[in-house]
Amino acid sequence: MSSNNDKITNKHTVWHDPTVFRADREALNKHKSAIVWFTGLSAAGKSTLAHALEDKLHKRSIHTFVLDGDNIRQGLCKDLGFSDADREENIRRIGEVSKLLLDAGVFVMTAFISPFKKDRKIARDLVTHGDFIEIYCKASLETCEKRDPKGLYKKARAGEIPEFTGISSPYEEPESPELVIETDKKDVEQCVAQVINYLEEKKII
Ligand code: ADX
Repeated sequence: MSSNNDKITNKHTVWHDPTVFRADREALNKHKSAIVWFTGLSAAGKSTLAHALEDKLHKRSIHTFVLDGDNIRQGLCKDLGFSDADREENIRRIGEVSKLLLDAGVFVMTAFISPFKKDRKIARDLVTHGDFIEIYCKASLETCEKRDPKGLYKKARAGEIPEFTGISSPYEEPESPELVIETDKKDVEQCVAQVINYLEEKKII
């Protein structure tokens, strides 16, 4: 699969304009759609936070969906590994799926390590400014390694998992995310409250 091939196979497609737009769906739903993009090391709390946030929003009658790295990699992205190129493709697909869900009027939360700045920027630039809320789940490598809920850091240290983020593959910290949540200093409730406060302040919810 090369981008050249993509260009060739896409050459004769013509965009078909819909008659129902995102604004119509948002009006029907009675809430805005948005993409809340969680990034951070494995075990930094991305999935926990995304699902806890979803729970709160669902109770407020908001139509939500969580795209979660470990789950998506068992379906849509099961052909991808953890090389830089595969991570790039993983994040490209998630960016595109998130954009579709945004247009569908859904409040989307993504929980992917998304270790590379340029890939996160590609996902951000797919949508209008303000629709993409990048949240850095910040926890030190030491903390994540201590938590090690899936035993993966231990395996990575033993050389059983190559290209493991934080150990043998880089994580590039966001420079100007919309929000930084220090998951090693606050409990889940406090972290979710921080996100909700932000979303309310910006009148997204
Ligand atoms: S990403 O880098 O492409 O964004 P993604 O979030 O989809 O990664 O998947 C990360 C999850 O895959 C981790 O939470 C962990 O459970 C699992 N995993 C398996 N191998 C690796 C690896 N080499 N590096 C990081 N995570 C891995």
